[in-house]
Amino acid sequence: MARLDGDFTSPIIAAAAQVAKAVSARTFFAYTSAISDIQALISGIQPPTQIVLICQNPEEETLADSMEVQKLVVPDFELTRMGQIKMATLIAFSQQLLKAGDVFVFLTGVAGRTSHDLLPLPLTEESLAHVISRVRTVQDFLERPLVLENPSTYVTFAASTMPEWQFLSRLSAETGCRLLLDVNNVYVSSRNHDFDPHEYLRSIPPDRVMQFHLAGHTDLGTHCIDTHDGRVVDRVWDLYREAVGLTGGAATLLEWDARIPTFDEVHAEALKARDFVKGNSKNQSTQEPSEDLSGLVLGSSVLGTSLPHPPHLLAVEAE
Ligand SMILES: [Fe+2]
Repeated sequence: MARLDGDFTSPIIAAAAQVAKAVSARTFFAYTSAISDIQALISGIQPPTQIVLICQNPEEETLADSMEVQKLVVPDFELTRMGQIKMATLIAFSQQLLKAGDVFVFLTGVAGRTSHDLLPLPLTEESLAHVISRVRTVQDFLERPLVLENPSTYVTFAASTMPEWQFLSRLSAETGCRLLLDVNNVYVSSRNHDFDPHEYLRSIPPDRVMQFHLAGHTDLGTHCIDTHDGRVVDRVWDLYREAVGLTGGAATLLEWDARIPTFDEVHAEALKARDFVKGNSKNQSTQEPSEDLSGLVLGSSVLGTSLPHPPHLLAVEAE
């Protein structure tokens, strides 16, 4: 990911400083590489908020030291903005700069230039051709297929001419890319856009699904937000059962990255997913889920160009 330039980050920094002041934030974290004028930043942050400069190399550390600003050193490798935030947060926790119960505000973009969250595409022939071209370019470079995930979405485009499941199916057929089927995202989007999640699952090519995601969401009645902050709801478990049946099962990742409970509680949710896989794979699949739940990934992760997959199971549910 290219480093962001000063023109882009200035309004983000200004907005973040405003938020920090309004809530009397305890700590203001900023990646040194993203700031064009550190002195201006320091001047804009007033006590009780303290600045912590996130440094990725010795030069940035020297700069932070010269400014007499606290620093947080992170490994120097390229990450997405969200990846950078997660890395810095993890290390800040390890150094007790953050503690459980702290409230975080992340500002990663303004004016439609970028977002920490996944954004929808207009689902048109034109955008499909564009994405196919981009996926082919990356796959050719990497010499292996990508595995692409369906997002949770909150808006749709009037210009769209096809449903998301058709877009993804055609993308996979044209490029050979695999799919990461986030079952919770299917449910959240189905609620927000009033489509049939079962039709979505039945329309996705089952042999292309290399991994499932499960997560909790926040149901606000009129719409759902993909918050990853709670248990998987029963209707998502039902969809998961159906998806496992259709595909024969695949590695499953439980996403829980806010309001994180005890390990035992998360572990129990992961074991529940394994039970669903076992129940569906009985007498149907040669792929048994692994007993190893490290990382809460169930079953076997599948990488590379050789992609073993259990037989397709297309007639699990009849309506
Ligand atoms: Fe996901």
